[in-house]
Amino acid sequence: MASPNHILLVGFMGSGKSSVARRLSSITGLSLIDLDYRIEVLEHRKIKQIFAAEGEPGFRAIETRILKGLAREDRSIVSCGGGIIGSAENRETLHQLGTVVYLQVSFEGALARISNSNNRPMLQGEIPPRELYEGRLALYEEVADITVDTTGRTVYQAASLTLAALKKEGIL
Ligand code: S3P
Repeated sequence: MASPNHILLVGFMGSGKSSVARRLSSITGLSLIDLDYRIEVLEHRKIKQIFAAEGEPGFRAIETRILKGLAREDRSIVSCGGGIIGSAENRETLHQLGTVVYLQVSFEGALARISNSNNRPMLQGEIPPRELYEGRLALYEEVADITVDTTGRTVYQAASLTLAALKKEGIL
């Protein structure tokens, strides 16, 4: 099957993926897919409930399955959950689905943007948030086709930078 050529946003929780994706979608007219939201709709439960019932492995299995399903969708702007880059299988799938944009943010910048950590089970888990952040950096870098530094930037600025980078690379 031909690649849908999606634009997939990855980055740590609080990097602004959902807001930047919404803005990019309204600017480009491409559909918006928020993967976490889609998981909740298809599973009929909140992410927090999935983690509570099945733990992180259960959530990751669902996330991988729904990510793969995006191969059947028209070209879209996709906002992915922060941990999607954890498995080699997902990183490979991301590449097959289109262009991966990594929204980089400092640890402090990410924390400042996270309003409600109660809804983010990975911030309540055994791994301290800073360790989680540092452990993922190399994976975001590995999977990224384009990197945009969002630290200290507003959503509007981050979206403009992303748009400019996508145009420069001939993706949009
Ligand atoms: C996760 C990030 C969340 C969500 C889930 C796990 C993670 O998405 O997918 O709680 O492992 O970093 P956001 O990055 O949109 O908060």
